[in-house]
Amino acid sequence: MGGNLALNIAENGFRIAVYNRTVEKTDSFFAKAGELADKLVPTKSLEDFVAAIAKPRAIILMVPAGDAVDAQIEALKPLLDADDLIIDAGNANYHDTNRRDAASQTSGPRFMGIGVSGGEEGARFGPSIMAGGPKSAWDQVGHILEAISAKHDDVPCAAHLGDAGAGHLVKTVHNGIEYADMQMIAEVYGVMRDGLAMSSEEIGKVFETWNGGILQSYLIEISYKVAGTADPETGKPMLDIILDKAGQKGTGRWTAIEALMLGTPASAIEAAVASRNMSARLDERKVGEAAFGAAPVALDKAAIATDMLEAALVAGKIVCYAQGFGLILEAAKQYGWSMPLPEIAKIWREGCIIRSAMLNDMADALAEDPSRNLMLAPFFADKLKETHGALRKVVAVGALNGLPVPALSAALSYFDIMRTQRSTANMLQGQRDFFGAHGFERTDKDGSGFHGPWAMNTV
Ligand code: 6PG
Repeated sequence: MGGNLALNIAENGFRIAVYNRTVEKTDSFFAKAGELADKLVPTKSLEDFVAAIAKPRAIILMVPAGDAVDAQIEALKPLLDADDLIIDAGNANYHDTNRRDAASQTSGPRFMGIGVSGGEEGARFGPSIMAGGPKSAWDQVGHILEAISAKHDDVPCAAHLGDAGAGHLVKTVHNGIEYADMQMIAEVYGVMRDGLAMSSEEIGKVFETWNGGILQSYLIEISYKVAGTADPETGKPMLDIILDKAGQKGTGRWTAIEALMLGTPASAIEAAVASRNMSARLDERKVGEAAFGAAPVALDKAAIATDMLEAALVAGKIVCYAQGFGLILEAAKQYGWSMPLPEIAKIWREGCIIRSAMLNDMADALAEDPSRNLMLAPFFADKLKETHGALRKVVAVGALNGLPVPALSAALSYFDIMRTQRSTANMLQGQRDFFGAHGFERTDKDGSGFHGPWAMNTV
């Protein structure tokens, strides 16, 4: 990633010094840089690296998130001036970025956390960049980050989103949405594979068709490519070769944790994280299948057409983004960060993993009213009116036939709860008051702290 980002910076006309603690890696990187080599300054020690940079220096760290970032900052600190700038471009936990930002304010050098999305290819040819940190840092390097970022109609997919950990928080939520988006695609794949007995190739063709419509997105695109690819060794579909055990590096989980901590619903994302956790328990699932038997599925093709699955995915996607943007809004309030939601939707339109056509409409809807739940924006409300019936059918068919659709189902429950004025939480409040005298508000009087007549009944 670091090498690709350096090549991208060089290609955009900026001279850049590079350093890796393994000198051979720097040498082979430089040897393969071709005509970009004259923009690169390879260095063999941290001291040479720092000395090669013009002041005030700007240094991008691309090391694994966590302790390695702190170690690198500590190693650089004695070599830098207070007005130099360290930029962490890894997938950092934004709480760490907040801490590093606070430390930098007392002793320097300045610090900035940027979320970079788009994988290896994005880093090389144009990622989406979510920056957080002091405005002075953005003023210093923003033009470079914009130049190397992906473009949507010539508009850079890079922006300063707020102080301290704002950029890394947005990247974390990006990844949470990525988890949910991927999980919902996997769920409809499961309905087609196990419910409709479709081959990988057939499923790939369905995804390919969807990619020409409202669901057009990088994740649908790679899904049809994955589904349509055969294993060169065996000739079998790759999807029959890849073990159904998903990995995770933690950012999806952080999104779910953050949603719980901020008290904002992100149930589709939480379901996606839980699904990855369950997928990893393959041995346990084997025992489960032996104990209970696999679900006996053979769906009637008429009961669940693929266009119904497409509509269900549209509804699920709207809900998952509504939850993701809701989480960002809540964090913005909590930290006093600017977090311009329309801008965030805009910089996700290209370069990043969740790029999609729908983000254009989301940017428009959020520009109309950033504090409104996205699903209530007229464009998305209309889409949900059209599609929630399909989501309901897919979830119902899944439930009746033992086909797990956890993220879609969480999205449906969110939709149903958020369209129900009279919820069932009056029962919760009654229970809380009964066992703990926690008090409740009444429907017929103003004020709070009312109690029920339970004590009288229990004496
Ligand atoms: C991106 C990706 C990138 C990476 C994830 C994968 O935006 O470019 O999100 O950051 O692929 O970290 O995360 P998991 O390993 O948790 O799936």
